[in-house]
Amino acid sequence: MSQRPTISFAKPSSQTEGVVVLLNAEEGGLPASASTFDPQGVLPRAIEAASFKGKSGTSADLLAPHGTSLDRLVVLGAGKPSALDESGWLKLGGAVQAAARKAKRVTVVLDIDSVEASAEDAARIAMGILLRAYNFDKYKTRKDDNGDDSPKETAFVIACADPQAAKKAFAELEAIAGGVLLARDLVNEPANILGPVEFAAKAKELEKLGVEVEILEAADMEKLGMGALLGVAQGSERPAKLVVMQWNGGKAKDKPVAFVGKGVVFDSGGISIKPAAGMEDMKGDMGGAAAVTGLMHALAARKAKVNVVGIIGLVENMLDGKAQRPGDIVTSMSGQTIEVLNTDAEGRLVLADALWYCNDRFEPRFMINLATLTGAILIALGQHHAGLFSNNDELAERLFASGQSTGEKVWRMPMGPDYDKLIDSKNADMKNIGGRHAGAITAAQFLQRFVKETPWAHLDVAGTAMASPANEISQSWASGYGVRLLDRLVRDHYEG
Ligand code: BES
Ligand code: MN
Ligand code: ZN
Repeated sequence: MSQRPTISFAKPSSQTEGVVVLLNAEEGGLPASASTFDPQGVLPRAIEAASFKGKSGTSADLLAPHGTSLDRLVVLGAGKPSALDESGWLKLGGAVQAAARKAKRVTVVLDIDSVEASAEDAARIAMGILLRAYNFDKYKTRKDDNGDDSPKETAFVIACADPQAAKKAFAELEAIAGGVLLARDLVNEPANILGPVEFAAKAKELEKLGVEVEILEAADMEKLGMGALLGVAQGSERPAKLVVMQWNGGKAKDKPVAFVGKGVVFDSGGISIKPAAGMEDMKGDMGGAAAVTGLMHALAARKAKVNVVGIIGLVENMLDGKAQRPGDIVTSMSGQTIEVLNTDAEGRLVLADALWYCNDRFEPRFMINLATLTGAILIALGQHHAGLFSNNDELAERLFASGQSTGEKVWRMPMGPDYDKLIDSKNADMKNIGGRHAGAITAAQFLQRFVKETPWAHLDVAGTAMASPANEISQSWASGYGVRLLDRLVRDHYEG
């Protein structure tokens, strides 16, 4: 990956090297400190000439301002600072990173209008910088088209009132950002490089942070009777893996919370093959597993006081002489039989066994699974909300609230016996597809048949995990969706 910027915090000073970024409120005008960096007082005229008004998302650039040794003095619109919420500060950090444009050294002056940026706000700016700076360029062997060989690493100094407190707040956010970037890396990586074996090895690296990692092999899953998961994997040359990660930061007697991820490293559709156009996107069909892995990273790196289990089912859905056929009937670990009417509805087959195993072994306080499960959720919600399905109102409401505060939003979808009926099968206990209607819901009903009474939520992240529109804090195809959302859920309700 492109190198991560380094970030530190310091008291405001008049040091004048590299690039200085000043935040300018929409109605307040230039910050009081502006004159420190603009001894000749040219800034007011310059921003007037640029018609710069401080609107968020806008900036004005002054090159090598006279009387200073700065390379650039950037004035960045902060909008209405009083209206800046948590994700507002994060986005502002993203804007800072964009305005810095690969400069070697950047000082960000956090004195906006009359708003006193807290240490937490300063830390959020820093997190926004990290998230925006991510760029999946490891396979680019040539310089960019402009022959740009400018330094890859930027050192940011955030000038704020209480650098010690900001540094402390940032330590936690940096842990979370690390989880988001790990999830993005996993999703962006092509399937020839990241198969089930390689993904499992990546998860194993979390041991460095104190996470316990077990890897169940195909033979182990065979013994457990995971016929649903293994049926998907049988058309691939690459063996399935089930990875069990445990972070025990809570009290020994406390039951864990559990997260389960769909990890289809590539989804060709199997014998019910997908159309060619856009099939390359199915390298991202492990976005749920990536989010679970990123979340485990985040929780362990910030030493969350909670016991957590993360389980990911890693398979490749391919066509082959050995591949599963439409019409095949498989027996899941739960004992329930499934008629596979469409081999492209494979994610639910993987999750059926992963969820059952998780519930059976850990009796968790809740289970939340994440999966790029259906195209239908994209039709329903587009790319700005994940579909939320749950058997528990409290859990659903908590997830909704975490979505609102982090900006990783969820929208609850209905479930019920009328939908459940749609997956009854003539020949087995259930079939793996419903009809044409309510495709995201029938997929959720299918999963629910493997969770018993445990509080459970399913997040369909097909629209939010990949092919993501660029925004203030992500320029990446893979968004890392879910890590910040679930870290927040855990922090707000299940720690300590
Ligand atoms: N991985 C896909 C869902 C998907 C679609 C994810 C688009 C991301 C973007 C899933 O395995 C799938 O193929 N679902 C089918 C289900 C159908 C066969 C019932 C779908 O949504 O078309
Ligand atoms: Mn599929
Ligand atoms: Zn899939």
